[in-house]
Amino acid sequence: MQKNTSWQKVAPWYKKIVGVEGHFYHQEVILPNTLRLLNLKSGEKLIDLGCGQGVLARAIPENIEYAGFDISSDMIKTAISLDKNLKHRYTTIDATHTILNQRADKIAIILALQNMKKPFAVIRNCAQILNLKGKLVIILNHPAFRIPKHGDWLVKNDLQYRIIDNYMSPLEIPIESSPFDKKNNELSYSYHYPLSFYSEILFDNGFVIEKIEEWVSPKKSTGIKAEMEDKARGEIPLFMATVASKR
Ligand SMILES: C[S@@+](CC[C@H](N)C(=O)[O-])C[C@H]1O[C@@H](n2cnc3c(N)ncnc32)[C@H](O)[C@@H]1O
Repeated sequence: MQKNTSWQKVAPWYKKIVGVEGHFYHQEVILPNTLRLLNLKSGEKLIDLGCGQGVLARAIPENIEYAGFDISSDMIKTAISLDKNLKHRYTTIDATHTILNQRADKIAIILALQNMKKPFAVIRNCAQILNLKGKLVIILNHPAFRIPKHGDWLVKNDLQYRIIDNYMSPLEIPIESSPFDKKNNELSYSYHYPLSFYSEILFDNGFVIEKIEEWVSPKKSTGIKAEMEDKARGEIPLFMATVASKR
């Protein structure tokens, strides 16, 4: 049976950490850089797959036609309640199944493809709905350096290293929302694939990768380990952004 990858059960927790304007990384890294890569022009139509509570919709220029899709009806309800723009629409769908009867000039998938069990099917859908000159922008937790539960920091001789124990093999990783509060603890799933997998599913669905960017955390440490930690943070990216177009 297909695993339910909806964030329905963790929606209240996610609502708390994301709020109206997004969490720290949305605000400082993801939204400004995604908007730059999307390069939205007046009158264009943007589709946001795995839109959650619509954090991207609230950051785009007002004159963009926007459609947000998510498998979690609670996420969609929150998105609708926070959005007054009449050019914005939200629908509950499973992006790995439903073939959208829509066209888009730009598609964004922000921190969501990594939560969908069948990413190939999602990219196939993107190929069907994206206009010929359109762009697909995918933001992932960095697939080489930020593999949940399979990557860590190691400190040796005043240097901070990133270590991983699994890279090439696909993984399904359960993530607990509140590991220290078992009563309110709910599971969501993260799916790990190596970088070449993403290149392959884009290629197999008729896309060409125009650009890959790797984004580091802008946080700064304090205290005696600050220099070492800031260096590691600046060297090991948190997110990977891919811009693809049709070939
Ligand atoms: C980490 S959240 C990201 C939400 C939003 N893009 C953001 O940046 O805040 C991942 C989202 O993917 C959605 N999702 C998971 N599987 C999905 C599927 N098969 N189809 C559509 N959405 C899905 C979840 O419900 C969740 O809202």
